Amino acid sequence: MTQAQAGSGALEALLQEDRRFPPPAELAANASVRDPQIYAAAGRDPEAYWAARAEEQVSWFRPWEQVLEWKAPFAKWFVGAEVNASYNCVDRHLQGPRADKPAIVFEGEPGDTRTITYRDLYAQVNLAAATLRRLGVKKGDKVAIYLPMIPEAAVVMLACARLGAPHTVVFGGFSPESLADRINDCQASYVVTSDGGWRRGAVVPLKANTDAALERTSTVKTCVVVRRVGDAAGVSMKEGRDVWWHEALEQTTESGQTECPPERLDAEHPLFILYTSGSTGKPKGILHTTGGYLVGTSLTHKWIFDLKEDDVFWCTADVGWVTGHSYVVYGPLCNGATCVMFEGTPDYPDKDRFWALVARHKVTILYTAPTAIRSFMRWGEAYPRRHDMSSLRLLGTVGEPINPEAWMWYREHIGGGRCPIVDTWWQTETGAIMISPLPGLTTTKPGSATLPFPGIDVDVVDERGDPVPLGRGGYLVVRRPWPAMLRTLWGDDERYIQTYWSKYPGMYFAGDGCRRDEEGYYWFLGRVDDVLNVSAHRIGTMELESALVSHPSVAEAAVIGIPDEITGQAIAAFVTPKMGVNADEALNHTLRQHVAQKIGPIARPKLIRFTSELPKTRSGKIMRRLLRDIAEGRILGDTSTLLDAGVVAQIKEQYEAQEA
Ligand code: PRX
Repeated sequence: MTQAQAGSGALEALLQEDRRFPPPAELAANASVRDPQIYAAAGRDPEAYWAARAEEQVSWFRPWEQVLEWKAPFAKWFVGAEVNASYNCVDRHLQGPRADKPAIVFEGEPGDTRTITYRDLYAQVNLAAATLRRLGVKKGDKVAIYLPMIPEAAVVMLACARLGAPHTVVFGGFSPESLADRINDCQASYVVTSDGGWRRGAVVPLKANTDAALERTSTVKTCVVVRRVGDAAGVSMKEGRDVWWHEALEQTTESGQTECPPERLDAEHPLFILYTSGSTGKPKGILHTTGGYLVGTSLTHKWIFDLKEDDVFWCTADVGWVTGHSYVVYGPLCNGATCVMFEGTPDYPDKDRFWALVARHKVTILYTAPTAIRSFMRWGEAYPRRHDMSSLRLLGTVGEPINPEAWMWYREHIGGGRCPIVDTWWQTETGAIMISPLPGLTTTKPGSATLPFPGIDVDVVDERGDPVPLGRGGYLVVRRPWPAMLRTLWGDDERYIQTYWSKYPGMYFAGDGCRRDEEGYYWFLGRVDDVLNVSAHRIGTMELESALVSHPSVAEAAVIGIPDEITGQAIAAFVTPKMGVNADEALNHTLRQHVAQKIGPIARPKLIRFTSELPKTRSGKIMRRLLRDIAEGRILGDTSTLLDAGVVAQIKEQYEAQEA
């Protein structure tokens, strides 16, 4: 196990973690889930359990004939049922007092705010869907969404869902090339973007990026542009292709056709495709469908965050990631919750921005990533102390393992020592949370995601696929299909089988290292494949390497993750320049810039080291393990399979010389 081994010091520390936090009595007495029998009941008859949850959580136009059809590894959930995600997230909340409850409380980076009630959301989603339909969007068309964190992102996602047009949201921090690759892979025929977005007072040129992307694609007929930053963006509109969203909405209003009834869709109708990094150079299009995904996201949201009618829920993730899909949009809105949506960053205009938001909007539940918590820790507790955060009652984390120190700091300085923390493990592929405390039942331990959610059947196995004894590390697998699971990789069933179901036939391979303690609690140890987790975002080493070698000065490159106090892992690249190229500071800078431009700023390597060769096996495979040993100053591991053992000593020398 590669990365997990790298963190063996941390593992030792985790093994000694003995702090325990039982659920607060008052919360436990009123929690969404109070009966521990739910675990056993779900395990005894998972299909009956999921069917009962599906009835409670989701409104169906037509009931299912079969709960699960499992032709491994292809699942269909709620077979024969008809449903619409937008109906579930919007229309059904209009009966009764929820109609005037805020659905989305938005705060933009410049401080502008908008409160959208469920009644408003109904009007906006209808108008948006009617407008997209008028522009030609039909059931089955793919719509790429490349927007900042503004309410239009959620409204357009729901409008697509209303029409049965699968969306593919592309994170606004991705480059034109990344956007084009995604559009091309799913053959999107529409793009919805904005003139720009605000980031630390500057404009992110989303429309200009889209223009550049559209030069590399041929499928897009119409590009819709939301006005967000106004004149500051200075966009140019292409005749016949580009349409201003506000003008299109006005025309729809003038036409009088402002309502758009939700399509009755098959439960397995594609809801969205979301791209994520894997261990090859090409991102994978994770396909999620409608019925099971809604059941999984809304149920986990309600139970794990102990949702009550008057809660104000804030998930800080961007809608460009799965966390934004499942816990900014679909899960909470399906539950009729009030969600905060924030466009900006935690440190602009000052490092107390999150806490100002919590106080201003009286946030009761906060869900964020460990990397953010570690930044807050470094900035110090004076920032949260400036604000009244007594509204908070529950805290969550997601995206990467949380170190016990950060967990304790979060509890003390954000949760005031009173809020339970739910550390939630899941993936783009799993659609919804899989391993997490239930806050009214589970005693938590800092650093552990605790226990599988009721109905989720996971295990930790060894190389051969046999369960490992408690206390030992192994690979996390899922033994049974679950409703919110991915259905395939878009257009590539073979890669779906290969990636997730071939290491252990009949078991889903998550790619995470994990160990269980004596009480069966799960402790995650990091990825075991060539995927990095930088600031809780997945980036494939192969993607980074192909970005590097696409530069004319580079002959070869190998990328590894190195531990980083704030971002969890950071990107380090070993680069062999072409003959005659000067490996100097300027080239170092150029290459870091080049990767940021090719993929997006999140992919910019933290450090680059030039080496005259890379360590390879006789079959030509780069041994990243040895590079990790060098970067972390460890004694070199087994070098016997190397083609040329001398190379490693040479790289080590060059690495250390550049470090100095
Ligand atoms: O390695 C695990 C880590 O993030 C990966 C999934 O990344 P992504 O698909 O981008 O989704 C992130 C948000 C769900 C996992 O394979 N990961 C996620 N949550 C945790 C975690 N590792 C440890 N603890 C977590 N709570």
